[in-house]
Amino acid sequence: MRKSLPVLGIGLIGTGFMGRAHAMAFHNARSTFSLPAQLKLVALADADAARAEQCAQSWGFDRSHARWERLINDSDVHLVAITTPNHLHFPMAMAALEAGKAVYCEKPLAVSLEQANQMQCAAKAAGVVTRVGYNYQHNPMIGLARQMIESGELGQIISFQGEFSEDFMSDPLSPWAWRCDAAHAGGALADLGSHLLAMARYLLGDVESVCADSHTVHRRRPASAGSQQLREITVDDQTHALLRFANGARGTFSSSWLKHGYKNHLSIEISGTKGTLAFDQERLNELRVFRSGASGRDGFQRLLAGPSLPGYAAFCPAPGHQLGYNELKTLEVHALIQAVCGKGNDGPDFEEAWQVERLATAIRVAAQEQRWVALKEF
Ligand SMILES: NC(=O)c1ccc[n+]([C@@H]2O[C@H](COP(=O)([O-])OP(=O)(O)OC[C@H]3O[C@@H](n4cnc5c(N)ncnc54)[C@H](O)[C@@H]3O)[C@@H](O)[C@H]2O)c1
Repeated sequence: MRKSLPVLGIGLIGTGFMGRAHAMAFHNARSTFSLPAQLKLVALADADAARAEQCAQSWGFDRSHARWERLINDSDVHLVAITTPNHLHFPMAMAALEAGKAVYCEKPLAVSLEQANQMQCAAKAAGVVTRVGYNYQHNPMIGLARQMIESGELGQIISFQGEFSEDFMSDPLSPWAWRCDAAHAGGALADLGSHLLAMARYLLGDVESVCADSHTVHRRRPASAGSQQLREITVDDQTHALLRFANGARGTFSSSWLKHGYKNHLSIEISGTKGTLAFDQERLNELRVFRSGASGRDGFQRLLAGPSLPGYAAFCPAPGHQLGYNELKTLEVHALIQAVCGKGNDGPDFEEAWQVERLATAIRVAAQEQRWVALKEF
């Protein structure tokens, strides 16, 4: 007889870019992995009631809500996924934790360090699994990079160069949106930089101190598409920083949403005393590696993702066929479900996301006060 698995009820808040990505990832996780639970898509919430209902029907959720509080209080929901604008992460996650539910929250964790701290404390007190959507670190090629760093293959790590640039705000006539308001979001540093800071920590560990410069190039934007009315922009368009890691490595960081030509340029170059590795999310199935020693015949080697890497094989038995962005999200959901079912502990939780927010705050303060800032100040 077929042994039935425990049911894990999913509640998803938000139906935008990330709402759809989460819905796909929950669906795909069921067909890609042998999960330790039956995922049941219980409820979908969105402030736009008609859209919530239409998406619930087409994405296979049992019911929809216009008020997110009803989803959190739904006794069939065990795990709450939050994909709303940044300022809503705090009230939604706190309510879900209060109700004893596991929480899967999009990045950045919060709009202030104080909120992030309260969230990690509440998560600890609730004793539930939490995860934050730093999806890029679930890439099997990033796992390989981490392994190469930890095994000493690159020698002692001395340098990190990280950049996350896109161009979706490069047109000065791109209208104001929630991402342009400090109280609702936090600019290029929060939007893109949070991914890069999480990646820097994932690969190299703690940062001890930073200095930085932030710049708002387009200080006003149309209040809405085509409007003559202009609205003040209260966040950075681009931020550059220098980092000193606890392990002695030195680094650079930059995030921009104005850099023409770049669509998802999360790129890192890490150098050690024996070699260098380089990665660019726009070519997410590749890792370039240089190992010192082969004099006269040296050069970068291009490693291509294949089924020898954990994660890749679940999707495809053939090398070079390539994973994409949504597969990274599926790998993130897989790690989350494993953790919720007590079968693993991979992936960044609220405590790690609070550490990322500490680092982002240090960069913000360093830029405002034009000085080196030590992380221990926060
Ligand atoms: N991990 C990633 O790669 C990645 C990529 C993009 C965005 N994000 C993050 O995901 C979050 C959402 O971004 P997005 O691009 O999907 O935004 P979006 O604007 O496309 O979607 C936001 C959704 O939230 C809904 N919403 C707003 N207020 C609500 C409320 N009070 N109750 C219920 N629903 C409400 C909106 O109706 C919309 O469906 C942000 O935190 C963002 O930083 C992460």
